[in-house]
Amino acid sequence: MKNLYKPNKVKIVKTEKLSNNVKLFRLKKEKGEFLKNEDGLVFVPGQFVLISLFGYGEAPFGIASSPYETSYVDLIIRRAGVLTEALHQLKKNDELFLRGPYGNGFPLDFIEGKDMVMVTGGCGIPPIASLIEYIIINRDKFNRAYLVYGARTPTDLLMKNKLEEWEKNIKIVLTVDKPDKEWKGCVGMVSGCIDAIKIDAINAVAIMCGPGPMMDALEKILRPLGISDRRIFVNMERKMQCGIGKCQHCVTGDKYVCMDGPVFNFDEIDKSWD
Ligand SMILES: Cc1cc2nc3c(=O)[nH]c(=O)nc-3n(C[C@H](O)[C@H](O)[C@H](O)COP(=O)(O)OP(=O)(O)OC[C@H]3O[C@@H](n4cnc5c(N)ncnc54)[C@H](O)[C@@H]3O)c2cc1C
Ligand code: FES
Repeated sequence: MKNLYKPNKVKIVKTEKLSNNVKLFRLKKEKGEFLKNEDGLVFVPGQFVLISLFGYGEAPFGIASSPYETSYVDLIIRRAGVLTEALHQLKKNDELFLRGPYGNGFPLDFIEGKDMVMVTGGCGIPPIASLIEYIIINRDKFNRAYLVYGARTPTDLLMKNKLEEWEKNIKIVLTVDKPDKEWKGCVGMVSGCIDAIKIDAINAVAIMCGPGPMMDALEKILRPLGISDRRIFVNMERKMQCGIGKCQHCVTGDKYVCMDGPVFNFDEIDKSWD
């Protein structure tokens, strides 16, 4: 029988400091490539992997790279505690362990043909990044696509080089709480941001990612835009252990975040996620 807990050894082929406490890690399999599923994807954007390092434990991370990329996966990891602190000390050619991908991912069929508003903040960007890579490759299947991305300060905005690249295909609205002198984007989640978003609310879908900005984004951006709850999807972060529906660590209401999520329809979740 296949051992669902058995991880793959992966090698770090690149690290990049994205902010004071966030790093990108590019990981390659020790042997072979990452395998595509029947849809030609390596994973569904929104799915996560479990990363472990001997002596430091294991934790879930969303995948930030393109779901069509077979030779590597990119993870964007914020220093939060024991494991992530140890991961931040690793360098190119160091090895760690990966299992997955797990979870459901974003409902790609449902969002096709619709206008889309993706809202995220801080370190919630990884799963949105892979979704944007998917949208860009399948651009003709989607209508207008917006990314509203907020951070505390301009230096906390991650993936700045990617933002420039994505802007050729989707509209990006950046907002920070504390601007510096050069800042030209929005400040806070103010109505000025949503004036830039032109969608057909009846045929639009919203995707929210990252616990911090969720309620704020919902009330100040998605409700005024008129997107109904059943067209809003959230990517939830809960503490996890097994990642495969066995340990009950991730249960919220009657759902397992690792198996039924991490992407949920806003209608179906217990709203006390913060
Ligand atoms: C589906 C999913 C996807 C995720 N994707 C990413 C990602 O792409 N990038 C990223 O940086 N982080 C991501 N996280 C959060 C990441 O898993 C935690 O930061 C990590 O578990 C911390 O491990 P640690 O051993 O370093 O911290 P610990 O020493 O275990 O804890 C340090 C602090 O972080 C808190 N913490 C631990 N786990 C979580 C969690 N799941 N959510 C919120 N707080 C937590 C603890 O309560 C404690 O206060 C994701 C979590 C989930 C469930
Ligand atoms: S993480 Fe173990 S049941 Fe979800």
